Amino acid sequence: MAGKVGVGLLGLGTVGGGVASILQNPSERHPLVGELELIRVTVRDLNRPRPVALDESLMTTDPSVVIQDPAVDVVVEVIGGLEPARSLILQAIAAGKSVVTANKAVIARHGQEIAEAAAAAGVYVLIEAAVGGGIPIIEPLKQSLGGNRINRVSGIINGTTNYILTRMAEEGAAYDAVLKDAQELGYAEADPAADVDGLDAADKIAILATLAFGGSVDRAAVPTDGISGLQGVDVDYANQLGYGVKLLAVAERMAESGDPLPLSLRVQPTLVPKDHPLAGVNGVNNAILVEGDPIGRVMFYGPGAGAGPTASAVVADILIIAGIRQASEGPGNVDPLLAASSWRPCALVDSGDIRQRHYVRFKTKDAPGVIGNVGGCFGQRNVSIQSIVQFNASDAGAEIVVITHEVSQHQMNEALDAIQALPEVSGLAAHLGCL
Ligand SMILES: NC(=O)c1ccc[n+]([C@@H]2O[C@H](COP(=O)([O-])OP(=O)(O)OC[C@H]3O[C@@H](n4cnc5c(N)ncnc54)[C@H](OP(=O)(O)O)[C@@H]3O)[C@@H](O)[C@H]2O)c1
Repeated sequence: MAGKVGVGLLGLGTVGGGVASILQNPSERHPLVGELELIRVTVRDLNRPRPVALDESLMTTDPSVVIQDPAVDVVVEVIGGLEPARSLILQAIAAGKSVVTANKAVIARHGQEIAEAAAAAGVYVLIEAAVGGGIPIIEPLKQSLGGNRINRVSGIINGTTNYILTRMAEEGAAYDAVLKDAQELGYAEADPAADVDGLDAADKIAILATLAFGGSVDRAAVPTDGISGLQGVDVDYANQLGYGVKLLAVAERMAESGDPLPLSLRVQPTLVPKDHPLAGVNGVNNAILVEGDPIGRVMFYGPGAGAGPTASAVVADILIIAGIRQASEGPGNVDPLLAASSWRPCALVDSGDIRQRHYVRFKTKDAPGVIGNVGGCFGQRNVSIQSIVQFNASDAGAEIVVITHEVSQHQMNEALDAIQALPEVSGLAAHLGCL
């Protein structure tokens, strides 16, 4: 590769700190991470303590210094809010720089203006971190699901409200009490309105709808209802009727085709049947269910916020830009992310060294002391047992089922050989892995 890809960070808070930390520690990540170089960083307050140690010469309070630095190829906007974030993104585009942003508020409202400016300037604006934190959903919608006709995108895309709803359901706790706890634990802001009133989820579903259906939607027209008016008694009744209550964001097509294509978008506390894939998404996790033709349903699940997960998504976008640049360096060059080539040798360990938990079932005679003898064989080989149970004791014999803690296959094999040599054990009837 001709040279390093220069990264300029606008913001060094939760997400910016996470990004800097990945760039400072490229070891054991894709080799392209080692080609990224942090050139400059802007913050508001130079004296604030930072979670990452950066050379002081990199730091400035003037975002233009970052954007205009000729060594900066990619500008990463992780300041948040509408302004100056929007203007800085447009400045970066005007300077010919590709942009990576985690800012759903800006993209939901000004995404079209930004996309048009980027297309005119021939640069990219990538937004994987703006929805679902660490969950890859933007690029899958843009690329991996491109062969589908998307019919519906729905999901739990606000971790704070999902945490509150999960605790209300599990503990029968009141909304106000759980919100206070969530604020103390740092899951909810001091001013929680953007989360609990559904505004953050509405930003995100507007972005997902634009990508899924191919046209921008009017963010201000998305019907939005949050969870602040939700009564514990309704969560309880829903539970008794076989439902969980989730703050669901939904975008669906209302016709086969159309110009404009009619869509329905909404954010609303919604009863979800307990056997629905979204019902098991609890705590601060997020999940997005995409329904399309011909794929059917595919669900994306994972941590929806936080420094590490969100930085993972931001760095993925920076790598996409670095890969495109590498591919464009001349004939014969390919994008190293798409080429998926090997970069170092790997070797499988001896199968006896594989460590996991095991489930085993023995057929035994119904003799006194058989459980003790089986347990003893495990203990002598340092195989620690989580549970040992005897079933079906009768004159014809019995079955003993054992679940172990994590052990190596070598240890397990030695213990099994010893157990099968016991006169009261007639055989090993089943041997399964156990998570
Ligand atoms: N936190 C998450 O889990 C998460 C998840 C997904 C998406 N996001 C999005 O990521 C973005 C950043 O969030 P965050 O949680 O990292 O925010 P944050 O912790 O508040 O960090 C914001 C950073 O921007 C800097 N900053 C603010 N205004 C500035 C200005 N005018 N000029 C220069 N620097 C300025 C701040 O400087 P100082 O440090 O000096 O104040 C700070 O370093 C937001 O759009 C957010 O919605 C966050």
